[in-house]
Amino acid sequence: MEIIKKVLLENKAWARSKIDVNPDYFTTMAKDQNPTFLWIGCADSRVPPSEITNTHPGDMFVHRNIANLAVHTDSNLLSVMQYAVEALKIPHIIVCGHYNCGGVKAALSQQSLGLIDNWIRNIKDVAFQHRSELAAIDKSEDRVNRLVELNVIQQTKNIAHSSIIQKAWKERGEYPIIHGWVYDLNNGQLKILNTINAKDAIDREYFYEF
Ligand code: CO
Repeated sequence: MEIIKKVLLENKAWARSKIDVNPDYFTTMAKDQNPTFLWIGCADSRVPPSEITNTHPGDMFVHRNIANLAVHTDSNLLSVMQYAVEALKIPHIIVCGHYNCGGVKAALSQQSLGLIDNWIRNIKDVAFQHRSELAAIDKSEDRVNRLVELNVIQQTKNIAHSSIIQKAWKERGEYPIIHGWVYDLNNGQLKILNTINAKDAIDREYFYEF
């Protein structure tokens, strides 16, 4: 239980440090939220979105799951997205994967892991779609990392295809813009993989009339 006590003490110290700088910090924060980003990331403990982007409470609306998936039937994700886009009018959606992702690694293995197999199945579908490109990669580590990238790109497309985004683009034009990023655990750097906005969606394969 020492670790629990420590975490709660750290919380008190953190809250105090905020008030020391600005006595109104929490009263202002408590009034409203107006975040700029919706972050859809992996649940991996090594990829904390606020910390790696140096953003602050109030900046980022966050949804995390294993391997940063945007599955069309996931009502948890869809609820987050609907609230983020329709109520908060968030202009930027970031899908962030990370190299050496355990979920993506599992998708490339033949091993059964139980319930999670059903979730991982979504990544296996991405791997199947890109099977010839992946099969041509010699090192298994490189193959995992390429699938990490392909998976992020597929999830940004899934988001673009969702009824929530299609409706928002029709009503609001340019926003939200969808960004596909990958995080490198070895150097702490984020890399851009792709960007989708309403115009791209109309010009390219992303557009689906609803
Ligand atoms: Co991961």
